[in-house]
Amino acid sequence: MKLYQQLTEQIATLIREGTLRSGDRAPSIRQLSRNRGASPATVVHAYELLQARGYLEARPRSGFFVSSAWRSSQDEPTVSQPVRRVAHPDVSNLVFEVLEAMRAREVVPLGSAFPSPDLFPLRQLARALAAAVRRMDPWSTVEDLPPGNTMLRRQIAQRYLIAGARVLPDEIVVTAGALEGLNLALQAVTAPRDIVAIESPSFYGCLQAVESSGRRAVEIPTHPRYGVDVDELERVLDRENVRACWFMTMFQNPLGATMTTDSRSRLVRLLASRNIPLIEDSVYTDLYFGKERVKPAKAFDRKGLVLDCGSFSKTLAPGYRLGWVAAGRFAPEVLRRKIMTSLATSIPIQAAIAHYLDTGGYERHLRGLRWSLQTQQAAYLSALERHFPSGTRWIRPDGGYLLWVELPASVDAIKVHRLALEHGISIAPGPIFSARREYRNFMRLNYGHPWTPKVEAAIRTIGRLIRECSR
Ligand SMILES: Cc1ncc(COP(=O)(O)O)c(C=O)c1O
Repeated sequence: MKLYQQLTEQIATLIREGTLRSGDRAPSIRQLSRNRGASPATVVHAYELLQARGYLEARPRSGFFVSSAWRSSQDEPTVSQPVRRVAHPDVSNLVFEVLEAMRAREVVPLGSAFPSPDLFPLRQLARALAAAVRRMDPWSTVEDLPPGNTMLRRQIAQRYLIAGARVLPDEIVVTAGALEGLNLALQAVTAPRDIVAIESPSFYGCLQAVESSGRRAVEIPTHPRYGVDVDELERVLDRENVRACWFMTMFQNPLGATMTTDSRSRLVRLLASRNIPLIEDSVYTDLYFGKERVKPAKAFDRKGLVLDCGSFSKTLAPGYRLGWVAAGRFAPEVLRRKIMTSLATSIPIQAAIAHYLDTGGYERHLRGLRWSLQTQQAAYLSALERHFPSGTRWIRPDGGYLLWVELPASVDAIKVHRLALEHGISIAPGPIFSARREYRNFMRLNYGHPWTPKVEAAIRTIGRLIRECSR
């Protein structure tokens, strides 16, 4: 690690652990450069990175201060305490109501699960699509049937290698988005009525998959910053006959939580010792804000038990519906299910994305996207500070674009959602992320859309509605 990276991480840790608190002055550039033997330029570089990550703010002629958008652990949302009993989730109607509300273009989409389409290289993709279709060999309609386009699978495998995981192209099955991959993975490793351990709160797509396939769920407490509680999971595994886990260990939806590398590797070891497959939803993996990407669970998988499901929907090409499962030892079963369910994934789309990845530019695009999201995060968080009433809490995630906000206990987030819609604003109320409609006073906000006065006005309105609903 270079010196500026060490400085960045050390100061970020001091802030996260509460040694430096919101409003505190950061060590002066001169002092730090003298103490650490670093040039002033190195310290300034580290401070700029900390500023971009939302830890510090620069005040004219006064230096750097811990950002007011940064909150110490006392201000964090409470850790989930789900009922640890097995249940059939029941969430669909409410989810459909909320999703329907986000479709209109004029709605401020704070409840959406997608970043702004303006952040994607749509023109380059259109060119890649045209080029791929022009050059398409008629035989590819046969050759690119599942598991999918060979060049694409090779490129996905290379991306795993960069992330520290060894995945062979042969274990990758291309799917229609991550959601199909997740559903196929679930069907491949479990049978109806089997118990699946899921996070609490969890992505509603997970709840719907478990609900519609007749599996049962047991919810595991999930920390808003550190993700699944592995100790609690172990206790549940001792008690229940859990047949699979479905987790997001990085930038979890809706919490934004990321497990530490140690707890992720411990999780994989624990499941390996009991031969339990882990379905990992990793759609936000590439949207990390730190210097380095987070090592995926797949990197610790020695037994082929991790089924890693990814897609290009959140990073490159929403609407193209292109995803995959790196299915480990379950690849043949996932492949069969893919053929039975939808036969194949659109062949021109596979060729187009393979062409785009091959001609370069994806990494550059990702760097720009991460930078935009990080900058937007800082703007949204400082607006929350300005407009939300005291008693609301949140955590600044280290990646992705979702924010989990706890409201005062008396506030019903479904009511806030319905009132906000009357003002042309969507939010995602907490109960859609729970098998038992818990999290009544929580909501998920999306900061994936560029900061504008309209967004600021929307956040101000939500703050007012929260105040009104808490009376
Ligand atoms: C956590 C999570 N997983 C999976 C998906 C589905 O991804 P895709 O659009 O690639 O099917 C979404 C989309 O909202 C998501 O938020």
